[in-house]
Amino acid sequence: MDTITVRLRASATASAPALLLRPWNPADADDLVELYRDGALRRWTSATVADADGAARWVREQQEGWEAGERFGLAVVEPRASGDGERLVGHVVLKRPTPGSPSAEVGYWTAAHARGRGVAPRALLALTDWAFTAFADDGLERLELLHQVDNTASCRVAQKCRYELSALLTAAPPDFPLDGHLHARMRDV
Ligand SMILES: CC(C)(COP(=O)(O)OP(=O)(O)OC[C@H]1O[C@@H](n2cnc3c(N)ncnc32)[C@H](O)[C@@H]1OP(=O)(O)O)[C@@H](O)C(=O)NCCC(=O)NCCS
Repeated sequence: MDTITVRLRASATASAPALLLRPWNPADADDLVELYRDGALRRWTSATVADADGAARWVREQQEGWEAGERFGLAVVEPRASGDGERLVGHVVLKRPTPGSPSAEVGYWTAAHARGRGVAPRALLALTDWAFTAFADDGLERLELLHQVDNTASCRVAQKCRYELSALLTAAPPDFPLDGHLHARMRDV
């Protein structure tokens, strides 16, 4: 998969600008450190980004994921209100460690300052459409999404993107200290 060519777009809403989804690059590291000061992000995601080194490492992992063809992370950005450049507002990722597998997993987060504006659902819908198209010939049929039971905001994102609740998951500490939901969306026929 050629990272350079992947650019996805999501339309504007009445109250929020259009989104661009593009590969992460090292210049995003400083913004990433700022965003990861948010407690919700640290609580609900498995990554740890505590400082500039951690952010650089995290961006490198995204790039390596594309090169290995196993993990396809995209930064979600929107134009600044001033019209001057872009602002980082989130992240979406497709995790598919086994080429040819009929299923893969998606993940996402939104910057604290951008929550409640439909960033995650719009970005996830763009990623979902892209994944089912890009991996159609490689047998991708099902996308899965996991969240802890008390992450009601994430459950709403799943519902808005037509990822149906398909199983209740038992807690598996330390990564999943509470029970969870498995949502899934099948390729449209
Ligand atoms: C879950 C998350 C990605 C939702 O992103 P988002 O771009 O705010 O999505 P939406 O705008 O569609 O809002 C989803 C829900 O968040 C809640 N919400 C609304 N405004 C909010 C705000 N300002 N701050 C926090 N949550 C808010 C509402 O329950 C909303 O559902 P509703 O539209 O039915 O009212 C975001 O809250 C987040 O990044 N959380 C931390 C990381 C995380 O949980 N990732 C998912 C791991 S499974």
